[in-house]
This record gives sequence, structure tokens and C-alpha cells, in this order.
Amino acid sequence: MSDALRVVTIDGPSGGGKSTVSRGVAAKLGFTYLDTGAMYRAVGYACKQNNTHLDHPAALSDLLRDLRIELRPAVNAESDVQVFLNGVDISATIRTTEMGMQASRVSALPEVRRYLTRLQQQIGAVGEVVAEGRDTGTVVFPDALWKFYLDASPEIRAGRRAAQLRDRGEQVDEQELLKQIIQRDQDDSQRAIAPLKKADDAIFIDSSSLSAQEVINTMVKIIAEKAM
Ligand code: DC
Repeated sequence: MSDALRVVTIDGPSGGGKSTVSRGVAAKLGFTYLDTGAMYRAVGYACKQNNTHLDHPAALSDLLRDLRIELRPAVNAESDVQVFLNGVDISATIRTTEMGMQASRVSALPEVRRYLTRLQQQIGAVGEVVAEGRDTGTVVFPDALWKFYLDASPEIRAGRRAAQLRDRGEQVDEQELLKQIIQRDQDDSQRAIAPLKKADDAIFIDSSSLSAQEVINTMVKIIAEKAM
């Protein structure tokens, strides 16, 4: 058995508050924030740009071989990490609902998961990382010291996502968003490899009636209690 990694994993469906909470926990601990969803979005974007046939493993392998995904710290505490694809800033482009669906599509492909899992493990190997995603506690960092699963009701999650998108100046149909969230949850949890799933040893937190700050404080307390 390998040693426990000084990594915090925060998994769960979209809109549960993972990004805000992960950023906040990382800032409080002085850890690096690893947004694995941004990586899937970057690959989804690259496939779209290159018209890559997702059912052609060879074409996909060619594309992945030439990809250089780089995450850089956010410019301020409220914004997402900056994402560069082969040196080009794609941070804003990948945050749309459409790119979320595209990311979900490519995230079901074994080649893509292998490629990104390895990359994430390299980043996490040094420790002091807060990793956010769907499978960080189950597949990417099974030996992480601290694991959380963050969820909230679909309606609350749709409402939060709507507010986030409105802030970015996007038009939002909340009913449509709710439908998309339910669909994406289903796709993410039912795919054959690395499905969205709580790790057996992860602590479940329902954020439906909690503020992001309350969730952050709860997690930091639990982390401090366990082998800091
Ligand atoms: O967290 P997000 O909305 O940025 O993630 C976009 C999609 O990427 C999500 O629908 C599923 C996929 N994803 C994944 O399969 N595994 C991860 N660790 C992170 C994201």
C-alpha cells in the first residue's frame, strides 16, 4: 500500500459549489488548486476546434499527443483558474454551458481519461493540492488524505449555475439549465469508466442550505483534525 498523499479531493456534480469551495479551501491551506474539469473542458474545446472524430481512437491519440494544457492561478479570488492550450488563453471560451456538455462527452473516452488522469497525478504527486472533479477521490488520488463529496439538490444547483452564467453576461433559461444539469449528472454517473461517484472514504456534505463559506470552514476544520 502506498503512503497517503497530502491531497484534498472534492468531487460532486456540477453546481454543488465545488469550484468556490475548492478555491477557498486551497487559499486557506496555502495549497495549489487543481481544477480537473477545466482540463476536460480544454480537451473538449481542442476536439471541437480540430473537428476530431471522437469515435476514432487514432485521431484522438494524435490530438492528445500534441496538446499542451497549462493551468495558471486565477487573477483574483473570485475568478476561475486560467487555462492555456498550446500557449493560447482559452479561459473564457471553455466556461460556457456548451463547453460543459462537450467536456462531458470527451470525458467518457478512455484515451482522454488516461491522458488527463496521468497529468493530474503528476501535478498532485508533490502534495499540498486541492483537486476538484468527479473522480479525484476514487480514481486519480485514491490515497488522498482528505476526501469530500459535495452535493446539493438539482434545483439549487441550477439556480447557482444560472447566477454564475448571468454574472458572465450569458442569457439563461433556468428550466433548460435544470434539464441540462440532470442530463449531465446522469451521463457523468452512468459512464463506464471513472463515473461520478462518492469514494467510500469520502465525507459527504450537502450544501443545499449552507453558504460556500460555511462549507469551506467545515472542510478546513475536518482537514486540521486529521494529520496536518
Ligand atoms: O466541473 P466541470 O463542470 O468544469 O466539468 C466539466 C465536465 O468534465 C463534467 O461534466 C464531467 C467532466 N469531468 C470528469 O469527467 N472528471 C473530472 N474529474 C472532472 C470533470
